[in-house]
Amino acid sequence: MKPLIAPSVLAADFANLQKEVEMLNQSQADWIHVDVMDGRFVPNISFGLPVCEAIQRHAQKPLDVHLMIVEPEKYLEAFQKAGAQVLTVHYEACPHLHRTLQQIRDLGCKRGVALNPHTPVTVLTDIIQDIDVICLMSVNPGFGGQSFIPHTYQKVKELRQLIARQGTSTLIEIDGGVTLDNAAQLLEAGADVLVAGSFVFRASDPAHTISALKNVLQE
Ligand code: DX5
Ligand code: ZN
Repeated sequence: MKPLIAPSVLAADFANLQKEVEMLNQSQADWIHVDVMDGRFVPNISFGLPVCEAIQRHAQKPLDVHLMIVEPEKYLEAFQKAGAQVLTVHYEACPHLHRTLQQIRDLGCKRGVALNPHTPVTVLTDIIQDIDVICLMSVNPGFGGQSFIPHTYQKVKELRQLIARQGTSTLIEIDGGVTLDNAAQLLEAGADVLVAGSFVFRASDPAHTISALKNVLQE
């Protein structure tokens, strides 16, 4: 099975966002990963609603919006209107995760939950049935261009077993430090979706790099 590839526009050239999104439209990318940071949940500010709307105007692929913000429940509807088709909130930011996921479902979006590197996958045991995409952070959220944390392989395997036991079709997404050096091993461990920011946008040929990730098991 080929993975879904979700390039993160956090690493794109913001002054040429239309051109960057058009490149993604023409590429083998499946989703467009949109990283929203508030300077509170994470120690960095990226961009918010107006930029997401601008991406939506040009994107021909689903927007996978990763909310690294406190109180994400306050902004779900606004991001859905700004084009989100997958809405991912952080487990660590949601004291009432079940309710938040109901809100996402009621908006007609896929429900995503992200886990920080230190958060065990078992915290999701009682809610996997209500999640469409589990995003395992393979770096500490807040910045692009960091090194992949190898313990992630183990977490992917554990989560794959947890999902199999529950019998759901929840996807496993990996976010942070993904390159051609770790993509195959992540897929073999059970990942379904690979997010890649700097590896794609810093490449001399980003569209070719996306194809290489998409076909990593065939190469
Ligand atoms: C990190 C973000 C990631 C980031 C990935 O907080 O959630 O999506 O853009 O960037 P790379 O691939 O450069 O680690
Ligand atoms: Zn992300």
